[in-house]
Amino acid sequence: MDDIKKDKRYNRLYEQLKTIVAKTDDPIAHMATISAVLYHKMDYFFWCGFYRLIDDKLVVGPYQGPVACQELEKHKGVCWAGVNRKETILVPDVEKFLDHIACDSRSKSEIVIPVYDPNNNVIAILDVDSKDLESFSETDQMWLEKIVKLI
Ligand code: SME
Repeated sequence: MDDIKKDKRYNRLYEQLKTIVAKTDDPIAHMATISAVLYHKMDYFFWCGFYRLIDDKLVVGPYQGPVACQELEKHKGVCWAGVNRKETILVPDVEKFLDHIACDSRSKSEIVIPVYDPNNNVIAILDVDSKDLESFSETDQMWLEKIVKLI
């Protein structure tokens, strides 16, 4: 999908998500809704969901797509890099990311976005995988960073 089409689609989904999440304060409900809406409306999203940081462990949270790893080995892979660096990580080719964790070998590219609490502590990671190389751009980054702020 090109960036112009992505931008239009995200714009629409963002408005939709804003309305839905306003109905409750529960962050897990927000994560569930965000993963469902994104997965079903962005056709290049092969896996879309959250890993929550609980007692210094990254444990799978609400997600859509093929069955994922329950817990991610500490300080390894893209999600942990997002926690440790406190920044979005775009991975155009997962095989070139040194210690990438392959929950599903069909994933070829990935984007990881940290989710923060009001004190700027990371509480979770939004992780999106695609079956194609180089699926994610700065447009995905901009919109997904905006979307996780709804949590
Ligand atoms: N690839 C991630 C693991 C999570 S799955 O992609 C759903 C990582 O390297 O942290």
